[in-house]
Amino acid sequence: MSDGASEHQHESHPGHGGHGHGGHGGHGHHGGASIDFAAEAERLRKRADARAPVDRALMLRLSERDDRVFVDVGCGAGGMAMAFAQTHPDARTVAVDAEQALVDLAGERAAAAGLSIVTAVADVDRPEHLADIVGAPADLVWAGGVIHHTTDQQAALDTLAGLLGPGGRLAIAEGGLPGQFLPWDVGVGRPSLELRLAEAGSQRMAAEHAENGAARRPYGWNVALEKAGLHDVRVINDVTDIPAPLTGPDLEPALHSLAAQVGWFEQFLDAEDRDAWAALLDADGPDWLGSRRDLYHLEIRSYYVGTKANG
Ligand SMILES: C[S@@+](CC[C@H](N)C(=O)[O-])C[C@H]1O[C@@H](n2cnc3c(N)ncnc32)[C@H](O)[C@@H]1O
Repeated sequence: MSDGASEHQHESHPGHGGHGHGGHGGHGHHGGASIDFAAEAERLRKRADARAPVDRALMLRLSERDDRVFVDVGCGAGGMAMAFAQTHPDARTVAVDAEQALVDLAGERAAAAGLSIVTAVADVDRPEHLADIVGAPADLVWAGGVIHHTTDQQAALDTLAGLLGPGGRLAIAEGGLPGQFLPWDVGVGRPSLELRLAEAGSQRMAAEHAENGAARRPYGWNVALEKAGLHDVRVINDVTDIPAPLTGPDLEPALHSLAAQVGWFEQFLDAEDRDAWAALLDADGPDWLGSRRDLYHLEIRSYYVGTKANG
């Protein structure tokens, strides 16, 4: 998620920063710009189900065979915790989230898959009990689309780096480029709808930060990991490139991603764009995107990884 713009595809995915973390109805917002993740549980579940093979492949790249302790911070539906537990059945897998509803969801999904993971509510912005929950120095800490929602992103990274044992890795999903799915002109509304959707995402992110009084992080993720005391910082850029036409299992995530973004960013779209998106996402209407043969999927998810010194 190039921070604001692509945060949600990468869930990307959105917004607590030390404010109340309760469920607040079904709109996915806390009333302001921040996103109510508890209300997003079903969306996160579906996304995690669809991403399970991707999570497993990524986990193979991030984990090492003898990793003993893994922590999924801001776990959402717990997809990465499950991917780790599958490949490391004897290790300690911990999944934490600021939202009780998501901790419950991650626990349920893991139990249904017969996997043993430790779950707990924990807020990276108030990390007093985090190390106790983790219980031992971690070999791998993962935070997927979480850090950009904290009130002090550098402090959050410092906290997570502090959970690592010697030689441990901190991996975060941040940055990247938002998914692109549409031709420039779809014949509904003004051309360039997706560029304005990305801009609306960026504005929403800025508004969330303003709402939460978040500290700025005026440097990139590689520098942020170095400032957290980590070395050998690298990035994995994972490109999705599916040519048109999108069909079946490729079409649904594209429509899902667009619908989610429109919902999250709607207050930063003008009325004309909101109407255009409503028509394009209406499966019963004549302009439904799902009927088109020219949707494609181009996206880059970036994963930054840093390593703690050995002793
Ligand atoms: C975009 S979702 C990503 C979920 C999951 N990591 C994934 O990649 O599917 C962001 C998650 O971070 C959680 N979160 C946001 N702020 C947090 C904080 N300060 N501490 C812990 N979790 C937080 C949210 O509740 C949500 O589950």
